[in-house]
Amino acid sequence: MTDTLTPVLTDDWDAPGSWKLDTYVSRGGYRAARKALTGMSSAEVISLVKDAGLRGRGGAGFPTGMKWSFIPKDNPKPTYLVVNCDESEPGTCKDMPMLMATPHTLVEGIIIACYAVNAHHAFVYVRGEVLHVIRRVRKAVADAYATGYLGKDLFGSGYDLDITVHAGAGAYICGEETALLDSLEGRRGQPRLRPPFPAVEGLYACPTVVNNAESISAVPAIIEHGAAWYQSMGTERSKGTTIYSLSGHVKHPGQFEAPLGITLREILELSGGMREGHQLKFFTPGGSSTPMFTPEHLDVPLDYESVAKAGSILGTKALQCFDETTSVVRTTLRWTEFYKHESCGKCTPCREGSWWLVQILHNIEAGKGKEGDVEKILDICDNATAKSFCTLADGFVGCITSAIKYFRPEFEAGYHTPAWELFPYELSALFPVKEVITA
Ligand SMILES: Cc1cc2nc3c(=O)[nH]c(=O)nc-3n(C[C@H](O)[C@H](O)[C@H](O)COP(=O)(O)O)c2cc1C
Ligand code: SF4
Repeated sequence: MTDTLTPVLTDDWDAPGSWKLDTYVSRGGYRAARKALTGMSSAEVISLVKDAGLRGRGGAGFPTGMKWSFIPKDNPKPTYLVVNCDESEPGTCKDMPMLMATPHTLVEGIIIACYAVNAHHAFVYVRGEVLHVIRRVRKAVADAYATGYLGKDLFGSGYDLDITVHAGAGAYICGEETALLDSLEGRRGQPRLRPPFPAVEGLYACPTVVNNAESISAVPAIIEHGAAWYQSMGTERSKGTTIYSLSGHVKHPGQFEAPLGITLREILELSGGMREGHQLKFFTPGGSSTPMFTPEHLDVPLDYESVAKAGSILGTKALQCFDETTSVVRTTLRWTEFYKHESCGKCTPCREGSWWLVQILHNIEAGKGKEGDVEKILDICDNATAKSFCTLADGFVGCITSAIKYFRPEFEAGYHTPAWELFPYELSALFPVKEVITA
């Protein structure tokens, strides 16, 4: 572990016209793809990515090389690569800025990944609301076709590849990989029953690899610099660099690329700390779906194992920081409203549970809670934990139960006092509050 920022994915972000093909090529772009396609076998590419220790950056941290090796070799159907650029987890803002700044890193990563799994068609699924990002990725793909980096006989290797950029319609659940596949096929986006897993029956019932945009974008640098270089960064089992998104009551929010294992204390030091005159009250290590942490966790290494050991999940590495002016009840309610809205409705504990949780939390926020409400919340959470079809429900359970674990008296205060009296909006707002709705 090192305590300094290590720009790899973000290295070119401040280069003039960083998103343009010429800029990318002038800084060594597409060299790794050429190296892989003309000098390595697909098995060698997979081994290298495995040896590097790259783990999926979409939330679960599954080893990327191992995922690629699950694609059956003897299946007569085509294989597909699907890149997950849905990025809708509250607080997460890493894939979108990366795609805006350097879309060709993703295109190059796709070429190498497809070659490794013998796919000749990749789909890039981009969250529907981010039109500017969709346009930028489409332009990068068009430029890559025009230069011969996509299409037929890439780098004279005889290998052909097409990329389709698909715009989603803005549903959080479509980031879940099997709901994403249904959405891509033109159906309503709802998670699929597994098995079969996507590696065996994914898109159009064909073998499919689904990877996050950051996972795929990490691949060119690994091919270029080797597994040992990547292994030299990070912790024992969480290797390499990653992009942390820092937001909330901090002086300088933004993306910070650092080796896995950096701590929030270090990131705050590098970024100027909390806003002037305020202290950290709680934070999420990996977006709102991950159980919250408090200042006692400031020195927890932000890698997969250490965060899990401390009781949470590294998730998307979205560090949302809240200071002492924030009502944890209000924050939890806002997040739960989001999950209620985004629940796909397929299963009862999630669909109904999130609805009931919003009702109770709303009462607590308004100071109209009743004795026993906290127990009722925990009971509903218990009924949704690991009993729902996908992990969206586990996500909202984690955020609520951790909030109660650390700040139970604040929830119980909601039996008699509104949250806006204990924590006035205008104190926690980052921008001037014009109108406050308290009813
Ligand atoms: C509700 C929900 C939303 C998700 N949203 C995203 C997302 O926006 N982007 C993403 O890459 N993975 C998301 N995931 C995780 C994906 O299902 C999948 O694990 C990931 O795309 C695999 O890529 P990786 O192995 O490279 O991390 C989500 C999962 C769930 C349950
Ligand atoms: S847990 Fe929620 S989002 Fe996931 S399948 Fe069930 S209803 Fe849909």
